[in-house]
Amino acid sequence: MDPHFEGRVLVIANRLPITIKDTKDGNFEYNISSGGLVSGLRSLAKAVDFKWFGWPGIDIHRNDKDKVGRDLQDKFHAYPIFLNEQLAQAHYNGFSNSVLWPLLHRMPEKVRAEESWPMAYREVNEIFADNIVPMVEDDDLIWVHDYHLLLLPGILRERLAKKKNVKIVLQIVLDGVSRSPSDLHWGGRKVIVHGFSIGIEPEDFRQRTESECVKRELANLKDSFKGQKIILVVDRLDYIKGIPQKLMAFDRFLAEPPDWVDKVCLIQLAIPTRAEVDTYKKLREEVEALVGHVNGKHGTFSSTPIHYFYRSIKPEQLCALYAAADVCIISSIRDGLNMVSYEYVACQNQDTAEVLLMSYYAGAVKTLPSTVVVNPWDIPRFSNTIEDALEMSAEERRRRYRQNVDIVDRCTSVRWGTMFLNTLYKGRVPEPEELPD
Ligand code: G6P
Repeated sequence: MDPHFEGRVLVIANRLPITIKDTKDGNFEYNISSGGLVSGLRSLAKAVDFKWFGWPGIDIHRNDKDKVGRDLQDKFHAYPIFLNEQLAQAHYNGFSNSVLWPLLHRMPEKVRAEESWPMAYREVNEIFADNIVPMVEDDDLIWVHDYHLLLLPGILRERLAKKKNVKIVLQIVLDGVSRSPSDLHWGGRKVIVHGFSIGIEPEDFRQRTESECVKRELANLKDSFKGQKIILVVDRLDYIKGIPQKLMAFDRFLAEPPDWVDKVCLIQLAIPTRAEVDTYKKLREEVEALVGHVNGKHGTFSSTPIHYFYRSIKPEQLCALYAAADVCIISSIRDGLNMVSYEYVACQNQDTAEVLLMSYYAGAVKTLPSTVVVNPWDIPRFSNTIEDALEMSAEERRRRYRQNVDIVDRCTSVRWGTMFLNTLYKGRVPEPEELPD
């Protein structure tokens, strides 16, 4: 590990990476979430003293706050920042997800605004600072995550003026991965601006895919879909994911000769997200109407074209689906990177080497060079590309898989975390040869 990794890192995200369940018998269940940030920092946690700060995600009764706070601190080095329900909603559903999220994805037509939201946003950023400031020591590194906390770095910088050598970093999702590095000079300080693309831990996915439980799931899936090709889609139900465009392309594909009906199905996992925000409610209605439309138009007594699931599924079921699919489609109309593409590649092998078909607008098309690329707005071509993907030769699939898996294996989330921390400790972006393998 790099010798510069000394001292403490305070990781601050809107939501703690721990799911808390009130078991209603005076106890709580805690489960650590998966995801890039958590996996990226997990291996580094052996060398770095991380402390997590964030909103616990549920409204905890005031009598239970001390207990939950102690549990989280002892078990996970995590410090909950409690917010009342109304404020949390105005901050999360309101300003963060109805104003900032669409603006950061260049979709101003999706912005909805209420007068009270900017104040709620500021108040939540201030409450975070109130909780964090007393915990900060000289030489700490404060790592703030994402668009929910854009004001926090400035507030902390002001309130921590007397502390020595405290470094603050803001990490924010951007639409597309390439951002040229630049150094800005602001208020007598150097500010480094750089784009780092996150990855996954592919070995975790491989090991899971090899487990007995996933093999059983896979055998069941193969049996249920015998004689049919499987197209898999895994999206949070978000308008940036281009779900209607993909369903329209699939509709057109089924309508055109040669007749694929009965020989192919599309499994659409739509993971619930921000379900209380109006634009997301409308999107759900639109998607569900389209699924009904396509199934009503092309379904037969022996086959249903689209299998639609609006829920989260277990990691084992997800790996079985990745391993069972013949094609995985990512049809985003805007997307920072898209980790589904990496997960799908990690669950393939030299023998399966199935096709990854990805939108030109997902950041990961730039990092995974051997993807089949589509423009999700061009429905006729999108529909033709689905057919090409289903008919691609095994040799071509293997060639593409080898190139993509090489990237997935090299650009892991641990490497991403290491890059980030190295940059902060060194005060500059490290050269690739300065990083551990
Ligand atoms: C994006 C954001 C993350 C957020 C995730 C899930 O990836 O950058 O900050 O956690 O979406 O969104 P949700 O609102 O469902 O937590």
